[in-house]
Amino acid sequence: MKRIAIFASGSGSNAENIITFFNASKTALVTKVYCNKKEAFVFDRCKRLHIDCVLFSKDDLFSSTSMINQLKNDVDYIILAGFLWKVPTAILQQFPDKIINIHPALLPKYGGKGMYGMHVHRAVKENNEIETGITIHYVTENYDEGAIIFQAKTPIDKKDTPEDIAQKVHLLEQEHFPKEIEKILLNLKNG
Ligand code: GAR
Repeated sequence: MKRIAIFASGSGSNAENIITFFNASKTALVTKVYCNKKEAFVFDRCKRLHIDCVLFSKDDLFSSTSMINQLKNDVDYIILAGFLWKVPTAILQQFPDKIINIHPALLPKYGGKGMYGMHVHRAVKENNEIETGITIHYVTENYDEGAIIFQAKTPIDKKDTPEDIAQKVHLLEQEHFPKEIEKILLNLKNG
């Protein structure tokens, strides 16, 4: 059984969905969640789900060896679910093609620094896009640039607000992210 760590920075709805999915699957187990924001709602979710949620700082991630050593020993894959920092080179090298991110738009559009959460949905609305979606991709040293594994689309109506767009994207994330992770773990996809 593969072991997964989730990195999150915010609400954690994707983290919760992935944890619940793999609780009911023999493919993998989420062993730990790592979070860089002490007020993030993902801590409440993990408490309810009886999963360890570990708070870490930029120093823990970039300047110390204890976090990478822990990850080396404890997990096979790292899933970024609303995680807003870059991943250090040392961790990328330790987990080649084993770190996966979800982005709330159809990359390469609406990616890069500062493009996260509602910033993405507001930009999509401002540009009068007729569709948006999700992108699941491998993580590299640059924001949102790794090879694309999966995309799903949803249409945008003229009357949709950025909040409506966020809700449509959220539904796609809930439907596809855990299933696509499972396919990767089962080698049904590259990686
Ligand atoms: C998700 O929509 C995810 O796609 C997005 O943040 C949200 C986190 O929600 N990620 C990014 O914008 C990364 N650039 P959650 O905390 O409820 O899972």
